[in-house]
Amino acid sequence: MNTDLGFGLHSHQIVETARLLVANDKGLLAMDESTPTCDRRFAPLGIPQTEQARRAYRELIVTTPGLSEFISGAILYDETIRQKTTDGIPFPKVLSEAGILPGIKVDTGAKDMAGCPGEKITEGLDGLRDRLTEYYAMGARFAKWRAVITMGDCLPSRSCIEANAHALARYAALCQEAGLVPIVEPEVLMTGDHTLEQCSEATELLLRIVFIQLFKQGVMLEGMLLKPNMLVPGLTCTVQESVDEVADVTVRCLLRAVPAAVPGIAFLSGGQSCELASARLNAINFRYKGQLPWQIAFSFARAIQQPALEIWQGKVANVNAAQQALYHRARCNQAARRGDYTAAMDQ
Ligand code: G3H
Repeated sequence: MNTDLGFGLHSHQIVETARLLVANDKGLLAMDESTPTCDRRFAPLGIPQTEQARRAYRELIVTTPGLSEFISGAILYDETIRQKTTDGIPFPKVLSEAGILPGIKVDTGAKDMAGCPGEKITEGLDGLRDRLTEYYAMGARFAKWRAVITMGDCLPSRSCIEANAHALARYAALCQEAGLVPIVEPEVLMTGDHTLEQCSEATELLLRIVFIQLFKQGVMLEGMLLKPNMLVPGLTCTVQESVDEVADVTVRCLLRAVPAAVPGIAFLSGGQSCELASARLNAINFRYKGQLPWQIAFSFARAIQQPALEIWQGKVANVNAAQQALYHRARCNQAARRGDYTAAMDQ
């Protein structure tokens, strides 16, 4: 049997890391908000938009007792991977010692795409090879790149989908060369009044094109994770299907478009409420237990962090309560991976 997966010495390490990230019903915690995004989340809560406040918030997260019971990996941002606890311990070290793999967001954001009004292209490929080497040395073992696809009249365009898919594949190949597991995140946004069917059509096309590019660029599917949106109607669509219908449409699309060699699918939350994200993840796992080729996990930011952030409000006195809220949401999502989540867990 040919066991050379194309990335020499790194192959087996990458495959093992990818498998570990979705093992034991755990999932990922995305804490990789860019500085502007983090500040935007702080502003309505009156939290100072400073490097010091962002560091204190991220320290709260990485020092949450027991988080590794539910969380296998945490995605950091460039600022965060360089920060330390008040005791001077680098965040990647705190995470590793707690049994959580450090990861890193490596795209530099979605910018307006020339020639495609209303659409975005994700940037960050220039110099990426060197940045990946640096992040690996700092302890990162996986990475993330997010492409955003906007729904609307005549959107998404084929050009936008193809350009983003090409960039995702270039990023993924560079990650594997550097020994990092790429998390490939093509996100169809929830913003808009599009229907579930329209989201389904766009997501299926997007995923099919992403996997064509991954194949063309030699990405080892066994050593990556997919981080897609769940298939949901737009936020302002008048018809909002049930949790079970969302689960069925999401699974139908994934079965059509995602090769079985991919070890895991870890959904983003995309602006769903915490409870709805858990309920939908639960429905997928409950209804399709034992029938799918991939682990069905989570890689949520807002749907894990938001209650903790609202409790913390930038105050030292609220740290313990905020950590308990974070722990609770992580626990709910592990239950959802098992198909054991119920609304009662949130009462
Ligand atoms: O890129 C986006 C994050 O990794 C996921 O964030 O769960 O709030 O959509 P979200």
